[in-house]
Amino acid sequence: MTTQKPKSNSPTRDAAPISASTAKEGLGIALIGTKFMGRAHSNAWGKCAQFFDLKRPPRLVVASGRNAQETAAFAAQWGWSRASTNWRDVLNESAVDLVDVSTPNHLHAEMSIACLEAGKHVACEKPLSSTLADAKRMVLAARAAKKKGVQTFVWFNYRRCSAVAFAHRLVKEGKLGRIFHVRATYLQDWGGPETPLLWRFQSDQAGSGAHGDLNAHLIDMARFITGDEIIEVVGAIEETFIKERAIVSAATDALASSSKLKGAKVPSKGSGKSTVDDAVLFLARFKHGAIASFEATRLATGNQNRNCIEINGELGSVKFNFERMNELQWWDHTLDAKLRGWSRIMCTDAGHPYGGHYWPAAHVVGYEHGFVSQAADISAVLGGGASVVPLPDFEDALKTQCVLEAAIRSAREHRNVPIRELDKF
Ligand SMILES: NC(=O)c1ccc[n+]([C@@H]2O[C@H](COP(=O)([O-])OP(=O)(O)OC[C@H]3O[C@@H](n4cnc5c(N)ncnc54)[C@H](O)[C@@H]3O)[C@@H](O)[C@H]2O)c1
Repeated sequence: MTTQKPKSNSPTRDAAPISASTAKEGLGIALIGTKFMGRAHSNAWGKCAQFFDLKRPPRLVVASGRNAQETAAFAAQWGWSRASTNWRDVLNESAVDLVDVSTPNHLHAEMSIACLEAGKHVACEKPLSSTLADAKRMVLAARAAKKKGVQTFVWFNYRRCSAVAFAHRLVKEGKLGRIFHVRATYLQDWGGPETPLLWRFQSDQAGSGAHGDLNAHLIDMARFITGDEIIEVVGAIEETFIKERAIVSAATDALASSSKLKGAKVPSKGSGKSTVDDAVLFLARFKHGAIASFEATRLATGNQNRNCIEINGELGSVKFNFERMNELQWWDHTLDAKLRGWSRIMCTDAGHPYGGHYWPAAHVVGYEHGFVSQAADISAVLGGGASVVPLPDFEDALKTQCVLEAAIRSAREHRNVPIRELDKF
């Protein structure tokens, strides 16, 4: 159900002055982590009230990083009122209503739990955590906080690509009928031997490699679009192709993980062991009978960010490829056989989820808009309204984490792994 009114895109619309009461009713945000996701989220919190009518427009209160000079420059560039080098500052900051946890995976639990216990809403990056045990601790904290009206959110941002949200709606409206197949692949190629030993290649920080990074998105998208749950992983392969990588300083860690790495000389201090997968493939069964395949890799040379999902149902099929993120391919199997064929739907019409919020139809949106839409949905929910499509909370993200864990166990123990083996507390 769309409850948020699109804002007018008229270039002649006068900017309304921010009144004191609006500012008071706003949503005070603190951000922890200021690199890749820190930038994407800062942009989203800063922009969402310009595209969506929000009762509680975000106020960018404080950004927390590790390096004082860098964090101050980051705060000034992205419009944060204050910079801090101690993330625990946000716990006692009365102007902060929500903490955005955008740090490496092993820090999600400690930071999120502390924030929830301090009465702050939390929007945490994915995967929920680096371990299933920590993810469960986060869910217990979220359950306790929920009783006090404190909410949790997870940045599974691809749900908010209009085409993915539209696929979710088509399934919900019964347009695909009974679902037979889910075929999901997330292929990247930045993880060759030239890429240094970033935190993303260290299991004590990341938990896993391409698996937690990319399969997490695929599992979430598959669950979100089908509305169904995976009940069993039926075989998996885990592979680490590049066993040793160059060690770099913490300062170049995040920089190196961005596209700036390409061609840059990264000062190295010898080499160290990569302790995560470069690729994980697995098969799975859904509760309502669909069967699924998932593949995540950072070494699919020639595929830079090919996040694809295809779903085949009795009445129709959908296909999504993030490299053409504005489009959803649709096959209507109810048509006369001689009229059947794939149609390419440009999901930018006002009738598509999020379509009316940005530009006129076919004036395409990009990567950042998924985050802007998620920031808007979170702000809407915390303002007493509804999100355009469902938002994942910690409880929901734990289901994805259980599937991730089941696939790893299946690969290492060479057996089928039912989810009921993992989801107990
Ligand atoms: N939703 C998505 O599509 C998406 C994309 C990329 C990353 N992520 C997730 O976002 C999270 C962050 O990834 P990233 O790519 O932004 O990483 P990054 O390396 O670019 O940035 C990490 C940030 O965390 C900060 N940090 C590290 N340790 C800290 C500490 N102890 N205290 C305070 N800050 C600390 C670093 O200084 C840096 O600012 C990860 O969980 C990752 O899986 C999600």
